[in-house]
Amino acid sequence: MLTDYHCHILPGMDDGAFDVDTSLSMIEIMKEQGVERIIATPHFYAHEERSLTEYLIRREIAYESIADLAAVPDIMLGAEVAVEHGISMIHGIDRLAVEDTGFILLELPFRDFEDWMSEEINAIASDHGLTVILAHVHRYLAYYTPENFEKLLETDAVFQFNNEVFLMDRERELLRQLAENKKRIVFGSDAHNTGTRRPNWDMLLEKCDPEMIEASNDLIAPADNTIEVFTACDTASV
Ligand SMILES: [Fe+2]
Repeated sequence: MLTDYHCHILPGMDDGAFDVDTSLSMIEIMKEQGVERIIATPHFYAHEERSLTEYLIRREIAYESIADLAAVPDIMLGAEVAVEHGISMIHGIDRLAVEDTGFILLELPFRDFEDWMSEEINAIASDHGLTVILAHVHRYLAYYTPENFEKLLETDAVFQFNNEVFLMDRERELLRQLAENKKRIVFGSDAHNTGTRRPNWDMLLEKCDPEMIEASNDLIAPADNTIEVFTACDTASV
């Protein structure tokens, strides 16, 4: 089940889809590219939000506005949570995990790495029993030293790469290294619109090893909607 782990399709939530039409067009493009499941991850910047609850209500309303119209009906709600000082202490931060899972997508700041960042990541994982997915980890090559990266790699995090990673040499090499070290890797379009940051699953499907894509898809099992049916044979054997 081709799964987009990181995108900004919910209308009016952030710098992603501006309105319902844009949102639906993005989802239509995803469907044409083969996407079967979307994890919607609007930005969550703690310092900009009035409250976590208000964010969750806004997200629900945005989702409801497209839920019955979306070309890909399997949409799970998550968030791209910016790592800020004290983020792990926010009451209810675990409610930003991808719904019905223990995975939370975290975005590190785009600047030099500092120890407090890994402390926050580790606290979110240990205090809330969550597994961290580090968003577009390849984008930090511009900021982090190899030692910084080693520190990140020591964590039990899942590493999310954007689909365009195959277009860039250093970034692709990082992906190769992580795969070699048996790290868990997932992919996302990080799509924001239908123009410059449009869904780009065609790019990934053309360049990436299908087994790697399959492993990405399988990180979160499909929702099990099957109803167990007990046959006469089952009951007879009890
Ligand atoms: Fe993003």
